Amino acid sequence: MKGIVLARKLIVGNWKLNGSLPENQSLLKAMLSETSIQAPKPSHVEWVVCPPAVYISQASDLLSGSSIALAGQDVSDQEKGAFTGEISASMLLEFKCRYVLVGHSERRQRFAESNDLIAAKALAAMKAGLIPIVCVGESLADRESGSTFTVLSSQLDPLLSLLNPRALKGLVIAYEPVWAIGTGRNADGSTAQEAHAFLRNKLAQVDLACAAEVSILYGGSVKAANASEYAAQSDVDGVLVGGASLIISEFLSISQAFHA
Ligand code: 13P
Repeated sequence: MKGIVLARKLIVGNWKLNGSLPENQSLLKAMLSETSIQAPKPSHVEWVVCPPAVYISQASDLLSGSSIALAGQDVSDQEKGAFTGEISASMLLEFKCRYVLVGHSERRQRFAESNDLIAAKALAAMKAGLIPIVCVGESLADRESGSTFTVLSSQLDPLLSLLNPRALKGLVIAYEPVWAIGTGRNADGSTAQEAHAFLRNKLAQVDLACAAEVSILYGGSVKAANASEYAAQSDVDGVLVGGASLIISEFLSISQAFHA
């Protein structure tokens, strides 16, 4: 898609299955002090943290009144009822979550979440007023067999077919190639840009104007040392960071790459 991308920049920390009450407190306090006196970030860059569900209440209290947004790591496609272990979008909203991850590859692989279920989860989140961060990405086998774009399409199409085109604006996409997650083998900037441009073009086929406003994040072994590679790409609007988001100095440097 040609033209100017208007999407806001998001620096999202996915804590995954990490943290404890004292660890979370010290990480969030460090983040809070970085956002205020020491290194104010520009308003077009938003920080988001995704703690494990049991710590959302703690994070919500600590982040209250700050510019750091809170996100769930997953959400049910159901509103309420006999769904043991699930958390609904309205519950996340009660604790001031603004975003929720949906369809992370770890959920797709380890919990056998289908593209249809992920579409239903994203829709449930949007209906309740959350912004879903919908994760897509190919495996190494997909990439080596040349089916990256086919896989990305099959992951996103069920959701796009359910959405009113104007609702695209309420969506964030995260491109996370599975082979780059937690491996230290990050996609280089041009590989990420190619996938992001493909994704934005798909969105543009639904609604050209809205597609320019959708933040498309890169995730997979992002760290301070490689963040500027992504910040330099026209269709990369931020990053979804796993391991490095637990280290304040790393998270801060990653963010600073997107401040320009
Ligand atoms: P890493 O940054 O640890 O590779 O994890 C990426 C990820 O899965 C973020 O959601």
